[in-house]
Amino acid sequence: MLELRRYQGEDLVPCRGLWSELTEWHRTIYEDPTIGGSDPGKYFDEYLAKVGGENLWVAVRDGAVVGLAGLMGEGEEVEVEPVVVSAPHRGSGVGCMLVEEMVDEARKRGVKYMSVRPVARNLKALEFFANRGFVNVGHIELFMDLTGGSWRSGIRLFDRDYSY
Ligand SMILES: CC(C)(COP(=O)(O)OP(=O)(O)OC[C@H]1O[C@@H](n2cnc3c(N)ncnc32)[C@H](O)[C@@H]1OP(=O)(O)O)[C@@H](O)C(=O)NCCC(=O)NCCS
Repeated sequence: MLELRRYQGEDLVPCRGLWSELTEWHRTIYEDPTIGGSDPGKYFDEYLAKVGGENLWVAVRDGAVVGLAGLMGEGEEVEVEPVVVSAPHRGSGVGCMLVEEMVDEARKRGVKYMSVRPVARNLKALEFFANRGFVNVGHIELFMDLTGGSWRSGIRLFDRDYSY
């Protein structure tokens, strides 16, 4: 059985684990095992302190926390951050359920604009969010890599090529 509920104190350890899985995914797509440092789960504690447990939801399947989503910000604009589902449970509807809950909650709060900010190389997340209705492009963040790292070509915006 799959259910959603608000974050509770007892969810701390599994949510740290989900945060680590999110970092693991970023390590995979950027082929960089150093992303997130030696204890990436600890960043969940910082995030929790910033956002507050009342803005976090967990997906629970057969008694185990398998997904996490949060709403950041208040007023007319909020950001969905993060959405992460434990790897063995991906592709079975958990992420959709979490995003639907975030949208319902945002509507209840009178939010006008909801955003998500996946890293550009997270093509799976981009497709997942576009399929859920996140189809408008807001800010575009450009950066310069002073380390000389290598980036993939393949993004074209307004007739200009960018790397990602
Ligand atoms: C992106 C992510 C959150 C999506 O969560 P998920 O649980 O895999 O998503 P779902 O299973 O709900 O949906 C994925 C697809 O499966 C489909 N699906 C939904 N229920 C399903 C089911 N019961 N059986 C099979 N497929 C199903 C959905 O329709 C969706 O396909 P679509 O986009 O073509 O419509 C998850 O892959 C993840 O945690 N990725 C790593 C972390 C990450 O990148 N997070 C986003 C950072 S911004």
